[in-house]
Amino acid sequence: MGAFADDLRAGLRARPRAVPPKWFYDASGSLLFERICELPEYYPTRTELALLDRHAAEMAECIGPGAEIVEFGAGASRKIRKLLSALHQPAGFTPVDISGEHLVAAAERLRAEHPALAVRPVAGDYTIDGLQLPPPVGRRVGFYPGSSIGNFEPSEAVEVLARYRHWLQGGGLLMGVDLVKSPALLHAAYNDAQGVTAAFNLNLLARANRELRAGFQLDGWEHAAHYQPSLQRIEMHLVSRRAQQIWLGGERFAFDEGDSIHTENSYKYSVAGFQALARRAGWAPQAVWIDDARHFSLHWLTPGGGVSAATAISSHR
Ligand code: AVJ
Repeated sequence: MGAFADDLRAGLRARPRAVPPKWFYDASGSLLFERICELPEYYPTRTELALLDRHAAEMAECIGPGAEIVEFGAGASRKIRKLLSALHQPAGFTPVDISGEHLVAAAERLRAEHPALAVRPVAGDYTIDGLQLPPPVGRRVGFYPGSSIGNFEPSEAVEVLARYRHWLQGGGLLMGVDLVKSPALLHAAYNDAQGVTAAFNLNLLARANRELRAGFQLDGWEHAAHYQPSLQRIEMHLVSRRAQQIWLGGERFAFDEGDSIHTENSYKYSVAGFQALARRAGWAPQAVWIDDARHFSLHWLTPGGGVSAATAISSHR
């Protein structure tokens, strides 16, 4: 039935029930996410864009001339545009995203704006091993904005960053990381007044209905998001409003009132906390840019000398 069906069934069998957040991003989910980025409560996108505006020249200095930028999780292309226009003779842009439709249209527009740039989109899952990147056209440099790294458990995040180090073949990595802040601000960002985040969360079930005929009754589920200060993460859940059941691939899944499906974690880091994590993945933290309100950070990392044995093994698995 495919990878989504496998992950969904495994996630619904597990206790606690949990489905990986990458399944949010079908065409509707990607559009809903773009609407989230415009919400007044959702500070990360606008803060990161402002940091890119303000410090693009310094970032370009770090990256150097002739680079091929590999963007992990490239959705809409507003952030890369800012970076590309500041870079010195960028050689290539290789956006990697799980949602393919998005990629092609964005690539067309970038080609028109930068005729000398080799734009080579790759539709694929950058969270797993075995992703094939085209041969390099320049010194590879990674771009990983949006604090998507926060969706991973810290131990997984170390593995992901170690894998990037391997893929980038000695090049640096510029990445956005959301900072620890007041729980009230975090709560508002994931419980917006217009209910766009709720619709984004519920789209997981709508997608299961569309693609797998899962038969979820959408009015039987409620969006829930809260900050766990001890774990420094926002948790998103879908909570069953009543006793109900669904069928998936001949298997019955029953839910009591109040049962939850954990759909996303969004970890927040301090600057020092993130730098320690990056070091565990074999990166050497260099510059870091932060807005005045200290809501969001952009980190420039270069390959470090050593890497722990465990990380070296998992990055080549
Ligand atoms: C794209 C993963 C960074 O965690 O803030 C937004 C996704 N989830 N609102 C985040 C998201 C709910 C977002 N990331």
